[in-house]
Amino acid sequence: CTVRHYKFNVAMKNTTRLCASKSIVTVNGRFPGPTLYAREDDNVLIKVVNNVKYNVSIHWHGIRQLRTGWADGPAYITQCPIQPGQSYVYNFTVTGQRGTLLWHAHILWLRATVHGALVILPKRGVPYPFPKPDHESIVVLAEWWKSDTENVINEAVKSGLAPNVSDAHTINGHPGPVPNSCPSQGGYNLSVESGKSYMLRIINAALNEELFFKIAGHKMIVVEVDATYVKPFKTDTIVIAPGQTTNVLVKANQGSGRYMIGASPFMDAPIAVDNTTAIATLHYSSGKLDSTQTTLLTKPPSQNATAVANKFTNSLRSLNSKKYPAMVPLTVDRSLFFTVGLGINSCPTCKAANGSRIVASVNNVTFVMPTTALLQAHYFNMKGIYTTDFPGNPQSPFNYTGTPPTNLATTSGTKVLRLSYNATVQVVLQDTGIIAPENHPIHLHGFNFFAVGKGFGNFNPSTDTKKFNLVDPVERNTIGVPSGGWVAIRFRADNPGVWFMHCHLEVHTTWGLKMAFLVDNGKGPNESIIPPPKDLPKC
Ligand code: C2O
Repeated sequence: CTVRHYKFNVAMKNTTRLCASKSIVTVNGRFPGPTLYAREDDNVLIKVVNNVKYNVSIHWHGIRQLRTGWADGPAYITQCPIQPGQSYVYNFTVTGQRGTLLWHAHILWLRATVHGALVILPKRGVPYPFPKPDHESIVVLAEWWKSDTENVINEAVKSGLAPNVSDAHTINGHPGPVPNSCPSQGGYNLSVESGKSYMLRIINAALNEELFFKIAGHKMIVVEVDATYVKPFKTDTIVIAPGQTTNVLVKANQGSGRYMIGASPFMDAPIAVDNTTAIATLHYSSGKLDSTQTTLLTKPPSQNATAVANKFTNSLRSLNSKKYPAMVPLTVDRSLFFTVGLGINSCPTCKAANGSRIVASVNNVTFVMPTTALLQAHYFNMKGIYTTDFPGNPQSPFNYTGTPPTNLATTSGTKVLRLSYNATVQVVLQDTGIIAPENHPIHLHGFNFFAVGKGFGNFNPSTDTKKFNLVDPVERNTIGVPSGGWVAIRFRADNPGVWFMHCHLEVHTTWGLKMAFLVDNGKGPNESIIPPPKDLPKC
């Protein structure tokens, strides 16, 4: 197999956006960070050197990490963070995956600026299951705050209130020609040649916002999400949650001109109004260039265009071909029901929020980050770091999408849910509307899952289960739990270790919308966690 070596130098860099400079945490001085390329079956080694004052860890979002949880990256879950001045080599093999993923910092809010594309090419000689595009481009969507993002979240946590929304969205690092941006700072420009076809590898690396993505005058054919192939379908709008990736084919069939590319927020129960659209341009380079030609505008969907988002997500199906079959578990060994949502707890010091603070929970448990990594505690049999009593069902059921109960308090703890090796697992994720219903993009580490069902209102096991798609449901690693609704996912617990599951809206993770699965070792020769590398950071 091929071994690929990368070096990620985490260092501060002065960066100007929206006409103002600030010092941001970067990898190799770049925002977004460098693209990591690998091929299916490659062994990838990334040496991460921490040259900033923060603790750092990096997650390879969507990489299965079969038996190599030590390389997964979430701080205090699979590793202690890399301390200032220290380094750590992430070492993993890409198994059974190809497509677009992302990497990002997995501690505090560093992900705001520490992220980049992760491209897994198919094995040499293996074609895409769709016509080969003439060119490929990476499109990283993110957010930009004028102030320091660590201050934004620290102040919010202190006050008990929600943090400020970002000042702009970005496409490949730039907001584009939006109000308040510097005229001299153009946006991202995708040059195309008439008649050629393009594949865009679109990544949502934003902290807190789901996004719509549109190109004026051009349709997109969706061919892959979260590094799994899907049945191709045509659309003029995609919706993409933080942590999700989408590959689309675009035909440059308009001959000439400039066309606006827009990324705008999707929030189906908007708590905060956010109208900032990031703008890039698709630009025909061949033929005569008319500099007076204006960009053809595309009107972004409204912030709460739930119907547009649903139409898109309901169109996603696994390719389920002979070569890429959908391996949906048809029977279920462990059936779990998790409520996900926001709540309010008392906080005597939170004066701004009248002595309360916003919390978030799974099955009413607000996860408390341990001070030692769970995987290390598990592997070395350290006692007292976590308990294994995470509830498989709500502790006190209520009408999740109806009137909220009067007692809103959550319990807190570092609880994990234990799964036996190779068990087939179903999790119904039910949104709750205690403060307000909201779409939660839930990400599971260590696995891909199949989204077998989805609906609005409360999940009803007797009627909804019958409607599950067990033939070609979309396979992914991050799924939106619809606002005031539910999704059902299935996966096989074939990866021993400790695996984080959380809302990929970073603010919700901060508030506690997270939990972890502990998957036991199997009995076979290749069914145990491998020993940790020597340079594994200590807490
Ligand atoms: Cu992309 Cu745990 O995150």
